[in-house]
Amino acid sequence: MNERPAGGERAVIVQLDLGQPDLEDQLEEVRLLAESAGGIVAAEIGGRRQSPDPKLFAGKGKVQEVAAMLAAADADLVIFNHELSPAQQRNLERELKCRVVDRTSLILDIFALRASSAEGKLQVELAQLEHLSTRLVRGWTHLERQRGGIGMRGPGEKQLETDRRLLGNRVKLLKERLARLTRQRGVQRKARSRGDVLSVSLVGYTNAGKSTLFNALTHAGVFAANQLFATLDTTSRKLWIEGAGNIVVSDTVGFIRDLPHALIDAFHATLEAATDADLLLHIVDSASHARDEQISEVNKVLEEIGARDVRQVIIWNKIDLTEASPGVEQDEYGNIARVRLSARSGDGLDLLRESLAGYARAKAESRRNEMAVAELEARQYDYIS
Ligand code: GTP
Repeated sequence: MNERPAGGERAVIVQLDLGQPDLEDQLEEVRLLAESAGGIVAAEIGGRRQSPDPKLFAGKGKVQEVAAMLAAADADLVIFNHELSPAQQRNLERELKCRVVDRTSLILDIFALRASSAEGKLQVELAQLEHLSTRLVRGWTHLERQRGGIGMRGPGEKQLETDRRLLGNRVKLLKERLARLTRQRGVQRKARSRGDVLSVSLVGYTNAGKSTLFNALTHAGVFAANQLFATLDTTSRKLWIEGAGNIVVSDTVGFIRDLPHALIDAFHATLEAATDADLLLHIVDSASHARDEQISEVNKVLEEIGARDVRQVIIWNKIDLTEASPGVEQDEYGNIARVRLSARSGDGLDLLRESLAGYARAKAESRRNEMAVAELEARQYDYIS
């Protein structure tokens, strides 16, 4: 949408220290977010604050520093790696006389760039409109700018009402279309899950290596890049496993800290693939300092989408960057809890295949038992009647 830093736009990043423990990781993440949105990081500004300023998020002096940096670095926009209120964003844009993008807008923007399926596009547009609707206030509305409105003067109340109504209509239409697509997808998925086939979903923090692992397992040629959210739409492939037959593997959207709520809602349908799976492979970038936080962020999202009870195996990926050796670890019940591997080099992939084969055989067996029980019950019924 209109807030996208188009190819090569130069951005000044603002990351304040509000006492968060993993500041360095957050900074690294926002750099990658900015680049994934097609921007160039021209400068970075830090600073410490007890709590955000209600008007400008940062202090007045800091904002002046940002203004000076904008000019010195010849930058086009400012990215705050924080959540800004609509008023803060507006005030900052007025002070800095340039576009100010917050973390949510940036993530929505990347999603907009990456969505490729009809469903993905609808989901992103819906999330963007819902985010926008909280920002639609008199002054400088984004819709007005998008239509190339009259300079930077705000629309009158009447215009604002029309904008709100148009936005409301569009949101309603998108929700209806999405519901239709979701129903179709649900039918397809049910048809699949009724079979003996084991369904496996890959989940994980963005950049953990889901697509790389998916490709290594299925040779499907899914886009894998050192960019955040390279995969947006769920892709499913059948995979033949020696000694176990076919299983279905789905790659899902990457998770991230503070995933915007509008996105979780909008992507519910896509993420349902994870909820319905027999098994989740939770891919972890074991070489990242932030891996523990990333694991708990992913579990938080899984909880929100109702997938916390699905059996999970941790895939300790990128061991080529650490000293770890390939291996399989079991929990106290003898279930596979963790597989250490490198999706890139392929080390340990055979162990994962064997583990999946084990799960596939177990599912087939329990399915046979279920059918045997159902048959017995049916026979008893025949006998009685
Ligand atoms: P999103 O689409 O953002 O959710 O990312 P993803 O989890 O699908 O990650 P992806 O597969 O795109 O990989 C991210 C980066 O990590 C890429 O540069 C990969 O080449 C790299 N990568 C993935 N697996 C490994 C690995 O085992 N070792 C190393 N060294 N790099 C890896």
